Amino acid sequence: MQDTPISSSPLAGRHLVLGLSGGIACYKAAELCRALVKAGATVQVVMTDAAAQFITPVTMQALSGRPVYSNQWDAREGNNMAHINLSRQADAIVVAPASADFMAKLIHGGADDLLGLMCLARPLERVPLILAPAMNREMYAHPATQRNIAQLRADGSHVLGVGAGEQACGEVGDGRMLEPQELLEELSAFFSPKVLAGQHVLITAGPTYEAIDPVRGITNRSSGKMGFALAQAAWRAGAQVTLVAGPVSLPTPRGVQRIDVQSAQQMQQAVQSCVERATVFIASAAVADWRVDGVADHKIKKGEGTQAPALSFVENPDILAGVAASERARSGRLYCVGFAAESHDLLAHAQAKRQRKGVPLLVGNIGPDTFGRDDNALLLVDEQGSQELARASKVQLATELVAIVAQRLRS
Ligand code: C5P
Repeated sequence: MQDTPISSSPLAGRHLVLGLSGGIACYKAAELCRALVKAGATVQVVMTDAAAQFITPVTMQALSGRPVYSNQWDAREGNNMAHINLSRQADAIVVAPASADFMAKLIHGGADDLLGLMCLARPLERVPLILAPAMNREMYAHPATQRNIAQLRADGSHVLGVGAGEQACGEVGDGRMLEPQELLEELSAFFSPKVLAGQHVLITAGPTYEAIDPVRGITNRSSGKMGFALAQAAWRAGAQVTLVAGPVSLPTPRGVQRIDVQSAQQMQQAVQSCVERATVFIASAAVADWRVDGVADHKIKKGEGTQAPALSFVENPDILAGVAASERARSGRLYCVGFAAESHDLLAHAQAKRQRKGVPLLVGNIGPDTFGRDDNALLLVDEQGSQELARASKVQLATELVAIVAQRLRS
């Protein structure tokens, strides 16, 4: 997914205590620390003795830019109460990796080292505890570990999932710590207001590809970045998200269900298969207006002296207009948002397009200024008038647009 610039990251300005307990996944904590700092958070690292067997405090100090704490008797604190001071300053304590042993200790309120002591001493209502488990698959599947995770959740901790796959021990299964970028996304979502909780957002993104023959086709310059950023922002805002994507090479945003399609007709079918469950439909895809009439079964060969083939076209279905005209949308159970990429007279074209498509909200942008770029400027048009969203990263604009849609759903 696109990197979130500092200003638009929900982690910007947060103060996180990053706790490391013992496990080989400590090597990933170094990259997580770096990513958190890049997102604008300040990070105070606290390590157990076991964690220091896997990665040195020197590495974590260099990456966080702060001395690491590991000892509850640390004399650097004036009052000699590191566990109180560190936990009171934090917006959250994130333990990554959280070992099986450390989680077993937590459920009993064990406090024989600084990290356990600090988790116990944190103000429960103000400083959330987020745990990223990491261990061998048998340890993870063991009833004792699963019991401990259930107990930690019942006690109010936020226990993240684990990854599946090859483990450092050579076995294959569940229990790997999530990758640093996945953890970053989970933490970004944790700190995002849940303005779309309970909503199901269906999004189309990217270009479509209309075949001429088995090896050639017609497409356009849409990168899909805006639609993918919208999917990411909607998931962070608490929605269930389905993303119908044309041919793009972007990674699937975390938590998002993705359906890959090629042509406009396939995109329409995919949309129709999920629109009955959706409460918001955002059509950001640059759908081809026409497809080739009579796609050749075999590659059209270039022969000496033969003329260039004459292509004829048929009009593609208008996916957005069709959805907007459905009973679900007209009865107010589905809120529809369209996009318009224009080259000039944005306001007039966007207003006309909003009416033609029959949608309450249309988002206009200047095509050549947005295709392939990480930033954009938007003009929102509705029945009342228009509103500009100033040039910013697509991630930032997506967050703003999601907040605006959420506000309209509420009113
Ligand atoms: O008509 P135009 O392509 O400019 O309309 C743009 C809007 O309509 C976008 O929201 C786009 O995703 C949607 N659209 C569609 N199906 C089409 C053409 C456009 O859903 N065939």
